[in-house]
Amino acid sequence: MSERTQVGIVGAGPAGLVLGHLLHGMGIEAVVLEDRSREYVERRIRAGVLEQGTVDLLKEMGVGARMEREGLVHEGVELRFGGRGHRIDFVALTGGRAITIYGQQEVVKDLIAARLDFGGPLLFEVEDVRPEGIESGSPTLRFRHEAVERELRCDIVAGCDGHHGVCRDAVPAGALTVHQRDWPFAWLGILAEVAPSSDELIYCHSERGFALHSLRSPELTRLYLQCDPYDELDSWPDARIWEELHTRFATDGWSLAEGPIVERGITPMRSFVAEPMQHGRLYLAGDAVHIVPPTGAKGLNLAVADVRVLAEGLERFFSTGDQSLLRAYSDTCLRRVWHTQHFSWWMTSMLHRMPDDHDGFQAKLQLAQLDYVCSSPAASTSLAENYVGLQL
Ligand code: FAD
Ligand code: DHB
Repeated sequence: MSERTQVGIVGAGPAGLVLGHLLHGMGIEAVVLEDRSREYVERRIRAGVLEQGTVDLLKEMGVGARMEREGLVHEGVELRFGGRGHRIDFVALTGGRAITIYGQQEVVKDLIAARLDFGGPLLFEVEDVRPEGIESGSPTLRFRHEAVERELRCDIVAGCDGHHGVCRDAVPAGALTVHQRDWPFAWLGILAEVAPSSDELIYCHSERGFALHSLRSPELTRLYLQCDPYDELDSWPDARIWEELHTRFATDGWSLAEGPIVERGITPMRSFVAEPMQHGRLYLAGDAVHIVPPTGAKGLNLAVADVRVLAEGLERFFSTGDQSLLRAYSDTCLRRVWHTQHFSWWMTSMLHRMPDDHDGFQAKLQLAQLDYVCSSPAASTSLAENYVGLQL
């Protein structure tokens, strides 16, 4: 079975779905191929912080109505260290910008509903997707769907298939340069059915390691703990998780409310960039081509920023034949990617206990940096403008 489209999009995560919707608004045809089921992608719990620019884009695209109703606008965060909290006021420091707490899976649900509403092609549970001929003028995506072998001929392929997808590997060996760091710790994340213990996020540095208090709704708290990258969930029974959270967050006059844990997972931490982000007619976006450690809450926002640039390039190309924006795609995106890599690396280095810090030297440097960030308007502003999203 052979079919044709203008843009073949691999992956129905935030990158692929936002790209599909932007292209629909521009009158460009696309087919989205996803190897998981709809239920699976709609339930996958990941990020929760949307930058102002991401929120504005989702609204402009007409998929922001539920986010506007249910999302929680946060005007600042707390940095807690040495047993004391310090607030960073985003709105005051950035001329009115803020973040919105709205789960990634909710964004994904809204985008899937919007795509299916207008009858946009979106196939779930496709198997064995193979991008071929990416160096030619007419690449193809071969795959199997409902036991039928299919071939989708495209003008352009967008690889939005995450870090473990197939598109990055379709680029010939040697054409991509990889820059990578694996961090010597991971995050244990839980979702608990209990009202948040604070209205705002708390990023906490402690002698026992990093902890993060976040939320999803007035009834759901999201919490993270720095753990060993080789830890298994079995070694973290509920009692140990709560005890560790109480100890790390301890401060006078505040306590953490406990509730039933309804979801849990361990996420390894990696910094990764493959460049350039394009080869022939294949354009890579989001986690397919870069990964940041989660401490700056940037992964999802960076994926959205990539496909916004890509959609503009594709619109120019399909409407006029002019390839200049597409040629600039990788360089344009990489500027933001490396700024964001730096911010995520800096937040991660400042807040986590370093396993090799035997004499406590690094912990002292971290505390000095945290003290500086909270006492210098210049340093607080730097954190705030990066956190709400750089206007590049
Ligand atoms: P993805 O969301 O990974 O989407 C890629 C899609 O492609 C998926 O639906 C996948 O099923 C599909 N796919 C993969 N291979 C194929 C294939 N061969 N064929 C077809 N489809 C395929 N960021 C934060 O800011 N804060 C967090 O707390 C946070 N937690 C995270 C926890 C985990 C476990 C992970 C993995 C990531 C987390 N992130 C977090 C990062 C953030 O979720 C990602 O940056 C974001 O999902 C990137 O979106 P994407 O669309 O590029 O990739
Ligand atoms: C959340 C995740 C993050 O990585 C982060 O830095 C802040 C909040 C969250 O899932 O709510």
